[in-house]
Amino acid sequence: MATARILGTGSYLPDHTVTNDDLSQIVDTSDEWIRTRTGICSRHIAKGETTADMAAEAARRALSFSGMQAEELDMILVATVSPNKAMPNTACQVQAKIGADKAVCFDLNAACSGFLFALSTAAAYIQAGVYQNILVIGAEALSTLVDWKDRGTCILFGDGAGAAVVTAEEDGVIDQLSGSDGKKGPVLNCDTGSTISMNGQEVFKFAVSKVPEIVNALLEKNQMSAEDVDFYILHQANKRIIDSVSRRLKQPEEKFPMNLDSCGNTSGASIPILLDELNRSGKLLRGQTLVLSGFGAGLTWGAILMKW
Ligand code: ACO
Repeated sequence: MATARILGTGSYLPDHTVTNDDLSQIVDTSDEWIRTRTGICSRHIAKGETTADMAAEAARRALSFSGMQAEELDMILVATVSPNKAMPNTACQVQAKIGADKAVCFDLNAACSGFLFALSTAAAYIQAGVYQNILVIGAEALSTLVDWKDRGTCILFGDGAGAAVVTAEEDGVIDQLSGSDGKKGPVLNCDTGSTISMNGQEVFKFAVSKVPEIVNALLEKNQMSAEDVDFYILHQANKRIIDSVSRRLKQPEEKFPMNLDSCGNTSGASIPILLDELNRSGKLLRGQTLVLSGFGAGLTWGAILMKW
């Protein structure tokens, strides 16, 4: 049976960066506080680029990397919580920008778990034989949803987009697990037209227990152990969360690549941006085993086991 293999990746980060020192000019915080609590040093912030612009640029780069033409795409899925329009959806905007005329296009919102849910959806369409070539994108302009007077949240987030071209092949996505708990919605909330509010400690506790739990469950389901995995590509929210997951899975920190120091938390874009960075630097080798995992508002969480 065919599965979904990632053929190529691409990403886009706005040129404009905001350092922790820059933030200490607008809220009562410090570089030291932000770095030690989160691992974040600076983040990219969109200036003029929309979510769809960033998504389209990441898409062009992923298509070029994979050698696929936009016209060959059957579907475009965009994971985002920060679209620049309520309609048309971001995926349709990307379609128009890149000329993917035959693609079916829709957005999906699962907050920071969005890319995982979108990739699982793409894999399911491919495994069912419905589509062959799917472009999966995570794109966010979180700077548009942040309360720049709230030091508890504005220090965390960044903007950007990451994309993956997936195609029907024998090797690729092996399995996935995901979950949601709508009762915990208030923990991380953003009303329409308003800004993000968060109970940071609740999110922290949830993340450090749920991510290892779902990763272990996924590995067990596939008769694999944590040692069998070459890289854990986790949602880039906080270095302390990732370090804790590494300890709980008893796996060395080298297996947990990070770029949150320079990107901050880009929500649904964080996993595909990191994936693209690793791919382009030659760290990912054909045949390696990867686990992608993350958590987000909803609350939502998920993990994907795949061969590179
Ligand atoms: N600078 C200086 N002081 C601050 C800042 C800041 N930027 N933000 C909060 N503080 C203060 C608080 O006011 C509080 O002061 P008080 O003790 O006088 O009341 C003190 O620091 C401690 O605040 P806490 O909220 O307890 O700080 P904590 O150690 O929990 O760190 C943080 C906060 C970094 C948000 C942490 O809870 C966290 O990372 N949580 C995970 C949340 C997360 O990653 N969310 C990402 C979005 S969700 C997602 O990606 C799905």
